[in-house]
Amino acid sequence: MTIKIFVPIDAAALSVGAERVAQAIGHESRRRKLDVTVIRNGSRGLFWLEPLVEVEKDGVRLAYGPVGTQDVPGLFDAGFLTGGAHPLALGPTEEIDYLKRQERLTFARCGIIDPLSLDDYRAHGGWAGLQKALALAPADIVEHMVQSGLRGRGGAGFPTGIKWRTVANAPSDQKYVVCNADEGDSGTFADRMLMEGDPFSLIEGMAIAALAVEASQGYVYIRSEYPHAFRTFAQAIEIATKAGIIGDRIMGKAHAFHLEARLGAGAYICGEETSLLESLEGKRGLIRFKPPLPAIEGLFGKPTIVNNLVSLATVPVIFEKGWEHYRDFGMGRSRGTLPIQLAGNIRQGGLIERAFGITLRELIEDYGQGTATGRPFRAVQVGGPLGAYFPESLLDTPLDYEAFAAVKGMVGHGGVVVFDDTADLAEQARFAMEFCAIESCGKCTPCRIGSTRGVEVITRIINDEERAKNLVLLDDLCQLMLDGSLCALGGLTPYPVLSALQHFPEDFDRPAASAARAAE
Ligand SMILES: Cc1cc2nc3c(=O)[nH]c(=O)nc-3n(C[C@H](O)[C@H](O)[C@H](O)COP(=O)(O)O)c2cc1C
Ligand code: SF4
Repeated sequence: MTIKIFVPIDAAALSVGAERVAQAIGHESRRRKLDVTVIRNGSRGLFWLEPLVEVEKDGVRLAYGPVGTQDVPGLFDAGFLTGGAHPLALGPTEEIDYLKRQERLTFARCGIIDPLSLDDYRAHGGWAGLQKALALAPADIVEHMVQSGLRGRGGAGFPTGIKWRTVANAPSDQKYVVCNADEGDSGTFADRMLMEGDPFSLIEGMAIAALAVEASQGYVYIRSEYPHAFRTFAQAIEIATKAGIIGDRIMGKAHAFHLEARLGAGAYICGEETSLLESLEGKRGLIRFKPPLPAIEGLFGKPTIVNNLVSLATVPVIFEKGWEHYRDFGMGRSRGTLPIQLAGNIRQGGLIERAFGITLRELIEDYGQGTATGRPFRAVQVGGPLGAYFPESLLDTPLDYEAFAAVKGMVGHGGVVVFDDTADLAEQARFAMEFCAIESCGKCTPCRIGSTRGVEVITRIINDEERAKNLVLLDDLCQLMLDGSLCALGGLTPYPVLSALQHFPEDFDRPAASAARAAE
């Protein structure tokens, strides 16, 4: 009987040599005349262990990692195909603490299945949600989503069911479902992992969305920096269309849903929903005034659902297991689970899906095991480049939309980027303004001009030129950007700046910092 070996085809695993490892395993098994099938799965999200190789023995997957090509002959010599002892052996994958303590709903299949195998997808609960949705009236599908409590995972945390209801109620001969897979936030990779590791879950979620609002066309806008994800997802569309799951009919039902993958234009602002729609229409990524909301006048002026990829890929499990099941996870008004992406200066970076309510401390200290450099922790930025910097004293903040808002932070897309004590928060504040200046679409003055002035003011503070006066000016400028920007790029850039000022004021006082260092 053939022995199954799993080697991830995920871009993170490929970047540390997974392709060569897969080839070496194939070569070694042929040389030893062993009956081995190498399956290319997605990543389990334990990045410090990649390439993570798994061997299936008696229906249980045994993990070995990180595996280099030089380790492959030794693994065969040690009998790893039958669970032989080896220094890289990690035991059953599901028993690895990092994975065992997760609550995987959206990522339940990621890293387990062959991403492009319809049989594998079906065998792991795939299409069960769509089957259930097909038996419901559109209004009931929307109601199911409202009851689930799912809030958009792209950044703003808007209730998904309410958005769908608005699109459903908008009269039109044509409606669209658009998936935002631009994933521009620093330290985030959940969208990419799903596209590469479980692409049918997104297709299933989008088909359910199409049924809910009676849309016949969908687009997935994928950032250009994700060539692997784009390729895998485009293939998944082709396979699902050929199998009759989507296309002229959704699983045989008289409802057409055609899906296309589109490559993004390489700008952070193209992740903002109205800019994304402009870009999809073939124009420059420029913010549109709201109202009208995209739900009323979206793509080509038609009612459009724009949802983040994680939001849409979570839809199938909500239908498969029921909205009550999903809603039972979480705290307060933050229901369900969040796929958290732990990155930056961290020993054990990766994907952690947990119910809302987990604290930053648990993430960084228990899962992450502290900084990669071994130096003391200094700061963490949550929610991408526009998120606030938190100090140690805020590490007990639970991951929850309201709890984060109360400390002037945001959960965003669930990106958590860790910094050690060598980080200079004044430099980080300047970087936030620089980022905004570079990425600004230029449509409104507070952001276009304000960010450039912001870089100048912070530079003067760092150079200790009229520091007190420039600190007042910076605060004033941040207030103006907060209140006067047309979209959240300019409107949220003050978050990292003001949080750095509030929690790390010593970094803005260069003479005092130098004196303190000299005295050490
Ligand atoms: C500057 C900027 C960049 C954004 N980038 C993304 C992105 O990369 N991916 C994403 O899903 N949402 C992004 N958003 C949020 C989208 O505008 C929108 O709220 C989201 O796609 C809606 O989906 P959701 O309700 O499922 O979260 C961005 C917003 C702003 C202001
Ligand atoms: S805030 Fe910046 S990105 Fe947003 S509309 Fe204004 S100029 Fe464009």
